[in-house]
Amino acid sequence: MKQEETFWDKRSRQYDAAVTKRDANYINIIDSTIALLSSKDVVLDFACASGEYSLDLAPCVQRVHGIDLSTRMIELANKKARERQIANVTFDSADVFDASLNRGAYSAIVAFNILHLVNDLPGVLARLHELLKTDGVLISLTPCLGEKSWLFRHMVGLAHKLGAVPSISNLTSSSLASLVAGNGFEITENRTWNKKHRAQWIVAHKLR
Ligand SMILES: C[S@@+](CC[C@H](N)C(=O)[O-])C[C@H]1O[C@@H](n2cnc3c(N)ncnc32)[C@H](O)[C@@H]1O
Repeated sequence: MKQEETFWDKRSRQYDAAVTKRDANYINIIDSTIALLSSKDVVLDFACASGEYSLDLAPCVQRVHGIDLSTRMIELANKKARERQIANVTFDSADVFDASLNRGAYSAIVAFNILHLVNDLPGVLARLHELLKTDGVLISLTPCLGEKSWLFRHMVGLAHKLGAVPSISNLTSSSLASLVAGNGFEITENRTWNKKHRAQWIVAHKLR
């Protein structure tokens, strides 16, 4: 079992309890995402965790496929889908490079709070590009640690060494935007979402 999977498995209940509170920030993310989607969209929720975003997006689109490394997160997501009787959503415990995911299968990909956690961001962006159909949209929200102070970054590094947080990239908003644009996307929205957490909202369309 991968180290990241164990980390998120252990935190699955705590994460789920927090996300199901649906705070103002959560509602804002859902509303902004729904505004970009239509009932025809087939959506991949990359790193769906316990499925809350997928389940809230599902009534507005054709279908949502949520994937996450953590088996425990996926168990919670499936349980909630059954309880809420939402039929147009499927969840799989899978990495984005999983061979079961088909090229060009999705018209939209949502990637919330995940791009700063992956080991090979250029490789992941190239894979997301491959999974989208032409003109498909990538909707992302990414904390940019590189925008925070040296002291804060140092404390996060220490917390990672103690096992309290996963490994987090030192992305800046401009380095992130360059990587997205450099991997075959045209950026149509790029703004600081949350000044406190330095999260960057980037919406980008597959070019070719
Ligand atoms: C910070 S949570 C974000 C979850 C959700 N998208 C959100 O915005 O609340 C990170 C999630 O990403 C998953 N994850 C981390 N690395 C992953 C990878 N390479 N592929 C798929 N899921 C991954 C973890 O299991 C965890 O559930």
